[in-house]
Amino acid sequence: MSEIHRASTTAPVNIAVIKYWGKRDPKLNLPTNSSLSVTLSQSDLRTHTTASCSASYPPQDSLLLNGSSQDVSGARTQACFRELRALRKKMEDEDGSLPKLSSMPLKIVSENNFPTAAGLASSAAGFAALVRAIANLYELPASPTDLSRIARQGSGSACRSLFGGYVGWEQGSKEDGSDSVAFQVAPAEHWPGMRAIILVVSAAKKGVSSTTGMQTTVATSSLFPARASETVPRRMKEMQKAIQEKDFETFGKVTMMDSNSFHATCLDTYPPIFYLNDVSRAAIKTVESINTAAGKIIAAYTFDAGPNAVVYYLEENEKEVAGLFKAALEDKDGWSGKRGDAVQVNAVAL
Ligand code: PMV
Repeated sequence: MSEIHRASTTAPVNIAVIKYWGKRDPKLNLPTNSSLSVTLSQSDLRTHTTASCSASYPPQDSLLLNGSSQDVSGARTQACFRELRALRKKMEDEDGSLPKLSSMPLKIVSENNFPTAAGLASSAAGFAALVRAIANLYELPASPTDLSRIARQGSGSACRSLFGGYVGWEQGSKEDGSDSVAFQVAPAEHWPGMRAIILVVSAAKKGVSSTTGMQTTVATSSLFPARASETVPRRMKEMQKAIQEKDFETFGKVTMMDSNSFHATCLDTYPPIFYLNDVSRAAIKTVESINTAAGKIIAAYTFDAGPNAVVYYLEENEKEVAGLFKAALEDKDGWSGKRGDAVQVNAVAL
């Protein structure tokens, strides 16, 4: 019986406040614009992944996600496996005493503690954890930046889950994607009062995958070119400044406007893409009424490729936001009865 080599890691979910939407190179997952996200607490939303390899394993690589077997033959997963194996192979070639892990079949076992593919950035945490678990297994001397370049090829947004706190993804300009990597704007401790509520409107799988959605938006939306070339570059600067200065009003306003802009390009796609539903729109109205009552922006909503709302706020406004939000949801006709298991409000520490 051959030895089994094994390594485990966890990676957090990140939720973008400036959205990635559009690929200039679909094969390498190179984006049409830079993006920026907040990494959520690992204790709340994360993927736990164990990577192992052994000469005694069946010859095919395998991936088990939440107990069910996944197809690993897709180009994205293959790109991650290939890049990581090549780095290990280089080490083995340089040091003949190292075990030849690069030629052994891989077995990956992942568990999410949140709904998969429900617009909760599951692929981000998933690919970030997969890449880091294999890098640990292979004992690669790779930095988070190096790993972000590899994870990006699995799922674009995954590159941002290799860092904690406030994280940017530079679109880069090189054709090989070597400069399209994630970077930390500020660590979580810089602005420790940041909180998020996640409203799981639906735990069902999303209707239009982000890859298909992005391609159709880039090909058909007349709003898209202005978003990619003017709106997002300006907002990236505003957002980084707001984070540096801990200016929640600007952070919140830019977050909400960017979510609206992204969903506007989805509606402007032909055929149109609807990720938001009536419950999502009720969440937007609840945030608006919280801000109106406060006389300033103390809560900010954002939606990914699905109906679930993420609402950012500062801990000092916990009562006004999390408290009022929960109360408001219970009062709405559309909410009662629909809550049950499908609708949960979770306050998440960062
Ligand atoms: O990484 P993907 O291909 O799942 O795309 C994610 C796209 C959004 O979540 C909608 C936006 C983002 O920047 O995370």
